[in-house]
Amino acid sequence: MAPGRHFLQIPGPTNVPDRVLRAIDRPTIDHRSPEFGRLGREVLDGLKQIFRTEGPIVIYPASGTGAWEAALVNALSPGDRVLMSETGHFSSLWCEMAGRLGLEVDLIPGDWRRGADPEAIGAKLEGDRGHTIKAVCVVHNETSTGVTSRIAEIRRAIDRAGHPALFMVDTISSLASIDYRHDEWGVDVTVAGSQKGLMLPPGLSFNAVSDKALRASESARLPRSYWDWRPMLASNEAGFFPYTPATNLLYGLREAIAMLLKEGLDNVFARHARHAEATRRTVRAWGLEILCAEPREYSNSLTAVLMPQGHDADELRRVILEAFDMSLGSGLTKLQGKVFRIGHLGDFNDLMLAGTLCGVEMGLRLAGVPHQANGVAAALDHLASATQGAAADERLRAHA
Ligand SMILES: Cc1ncc(COP(=O)(O)O)c(C=O)c1O
Repeated sequence: MAPGRHFLQIPGPTNVPDRVLRAIDRPTIDHRSPEFGRLGREVLDGLKQIFRTEGPIVIYPASGTGAWEAALVNALSPGDRVLMSETGHFSSLWCEMAGRLGLEVDLIPGDWRRGADPEAIGAKLEGDRGHTIKAVCVVHNETSTGVTSRIAEIRRAIDRAGHPALFMVDTISSLASIDYRHDEWGVDVTVAGSQKGLMLPPGLSFNAVSDKALRASESARLPRSYWDWRPMLASNEAGFFPYTPATNLLYGLREAIAMLLKEGLDNVFARHARHAEATRRTVRAWGLEILCAEPREYSNSLTAVLMPQGHDADELRRVILEAFDMSLGSGLTKLQGKVFRIGHLGDFNDLMLAGTLCGVEMGLRLAGVPHQANGVAAALDHLASATQGAAADERLRAHA
C-alpha cells in the first residue's frame, strides 16, 4: 500500500468519513429487537429531510440498480409505455432494464452532452392523447457525463401537458449533493443509493414513494417479490424490515444523516457548487473542454473532461493512479478513453479538491497531454475568494 491516503476521486463510491466508518464498526444487533426498531424509525424519519418529502421511503439492502428495478416493478404493468431520455450510460442502462422487464420504452435520443429536454418530454406527452404513457423516467444527475437535468422544469412540462404519467427520478449521484425536492417537484418515485452524496459504502438503495405511486402499485401487475413496497412499508411502521436488513450500514446511515443535517442541506449544496465551479475554472485554464455542453446543466457532483484528440483518458488515469495514488472516473461505453471524470462530491473540502486538481495537472504533464500549465491557480483563486466572501457575510451577520 502506498503511504498517505488514497485519493478516491471517482464520482462514487465517495470517501467515507471516519465518523461514519466508526459508526459502522459496532456489533451487529438483533434486527427484531426494540433497539433495532428505534434505529429503523430514526433513519426512515431522518431520510425524509434529505429527500425533502413527507411520504414513505423504502430502504433496500442493494445497489442502486435494485432501486431502479423496484421503482418500475412496483408501479407498472407488462406492456406499459415509459418515456425515457437518453442522457448517458446510466439512463441507457435503466432503459435496457425497462425493456427486459417487459415495458415498452419510448426513448428520446440524446448526444450525452445535455440533460433530458423538458420541451421534448412535454411535446411527447401532449401527443399522447390516449394517456398510454404510464411513467416518465429521468436521471437527475447523469454520472457518466456530468450533466444535471432540470427536474422542476420537467415537472412543469408534464403539468402543462395535463398528463397523468408517474414521474420517476434517479438521484443516485445527486441526492445530498445537488438541490433535490421530492415533494415540491411532484416526483412519484425517487431512486437513490448510499455510496455518493450520502457518504456511505455501497450497499443501500432507496425509493421515496408518493401517494400517487402507492395507489398505482395497488393495481400494477409486473411480477415483484423481493422489491415489493407493501411488506416493506408494513414492517417499517415499527422500524423493522420483512427480511434481514443491512444493520451496520444503517448505523452508518444514521451518522451520515446527522452530519448532513448538522451542516445544513443548503450549505452542503453550496459547498458542492463551489467545488464544481472551481473545478470547471481549472479545466478551462488547462485549455481542456468540459463534456457538458449546456452551462445551466453543469453537474455539481462531478466534471467530465474531454481529452484532446489522439490522447487516451484511460492512459492518463493509469499514470495518475501509479504516480499519485489517485483514482479518477473512466469514460463509460461510448465515452471510453475519450473522457475522464473528476468526482467532487460527498465528504470533501477545499484542500482535498486542491490536491485532486494538482494530481490531475501533474498527470497531464507526465502523460504528455497538451495543456496550459498552472490551471490549478484558477481553482485556488476561486476557493480563496469565495471563502473570503463567506467570511465577510459571516462578519456582517455577527454585527447585524
Ligand atoms: C446515476 C446512476 N444511476 C444508477 C447507477 C447504478 O447504481 P449501482 O451501480 O449502485 O447499482 C449509478 C451508479 O453509479 C448511477 O451513477
